[in-house]
Amino acid sequence: MKHTVVLIPGDGIGPEVADAARLVLDAAGADIEWVERYAGLAAVERGATETLPAETIDAIRSHRVALKGPCTTPIGEGFTSVNVALRKRLALFGAVRPVRSMDGVPTRYSDPGVDIVVIRENTEGLYAGIENQITPGVVTSLKVVTEEASRRIARFALDYAVTRGRRKVTVLHKANIMKLGDGLFVRCCRDEAAAYEGRVEYEERIIDAGSMGIVQRPEDFDVLLCENLYGDVMSDLCAGLVGGLGVTPGANFGSDHYAVFEAVHGSAPDIAGQDVANPLALIMSGVMLLRHLCSATGDANCGEAADRIRAAYSQCLVEGEKTRDLGGSLGTRAFAEAVARRVEVLA
Ligand code: NAI
Repeated sequence: MKHTVVLIPGDGIGPEVADAARLVLDAAGADIEWVERYAGLAAVERGATETLPAETIDAIRSHRVALKGPCTTPIGEGFTSVNVALRKRLALFGAVRPVRSMDGVPTRYSDPGVDIVVIRENTEGLYAGIENQITPGVVTSLKVVTEEASRRIARFALDYAVTRGRRKVTVLHKANIMKLGDGLFVRCCRDEAAAYEGRVEYEERIIDAGSMGIVQRPEDFDVLLCENLYGDVMSDLCAGLVGGLGVTPGANFGSDHYAVFEAVHGSAPDIAGQDVANPLALIMSGVMLLRHLCSATGDANCGEAADRIRAAYSQCLVEGEKTRDLGGSLGTRAFAEAVARRVEVLA
């Protein structure tokens, strides 16, 4: 079965890791036709008048699935985040970021190992982008919390946990201080969790103590349910437990059946264009994409391709074929070629 997937290379290391991911997915034998579209500075450099051109959004609307590289957002000035805008425009309200210890990537948490999934609300919170300068030196940033979006992400996380056989959902919040905003979020989660009683354990933790708990005993945590900002921070914190941003994939899902797969990391301008970025997080996001295609279309070939890629990169890591961030010496392209070679042997 042929699948059409939108490929957005993005900025910084994006084009390098996107090329690498495409090489590996093609080698795995999934029948994918790539439709390349641009977003971020890359779009503007190609003559677009906006960082999120309509043709990029339209392509995702027609093909429903995209693999996306990171897009740069200037700090403290300039245009607003393309990533946040894309998630809002397509109502991709739920981010799923699995964080697992991997053989061949030893960390101080390898024993007993980490297996956490961060689920992040993608459309509101402080990322609503409503900021005002009241007077020079005084600024307000509004945090938006709605019952509809809070219930929606709670059901999404609880369903995810139940269908994947996970044991527990932990809501991280600061409702002791933000009694109305985080208070509403927690109340919605608690209400929705009541309908899942007996199928998955549910708990709530205040985020500061919860963060300490995660770095002290990550094995106590399973699925983390977070509003937007907390989910963003927790994704990188958890990535740090298993080897960093080079090994943490992600996916954004919405109610209109669109899905955009992207690594947790950003455009890493400090290493862009040097062939040193680790493409594994985007390759792993590609594996999530293949599993999604398999369950959405029933195409078992995609599931088998996903299994082969996972086996291939695991072999590479165990045998020391790694990029620099994981203590290896391979460049971006050489690592992708090593995975692709093993994928072809496994085929
Ligand atoms: P970053 O994730 O780009 O980089 C943080 C650190 O991790 C850097 O030292 C970088 O070299 C390293 N790193 C990241 N990915 C790596 C990889 N694949 N292999 C090896 N090392 C890697 O975060 P930063 O520096 O805060 O953001 C840079 C830009 O990316 C900003 O404009 C930010 O807005 C954007 N960004 C975009 C995201 C997206 O498109 N989804 C997500 C996060 C940030």
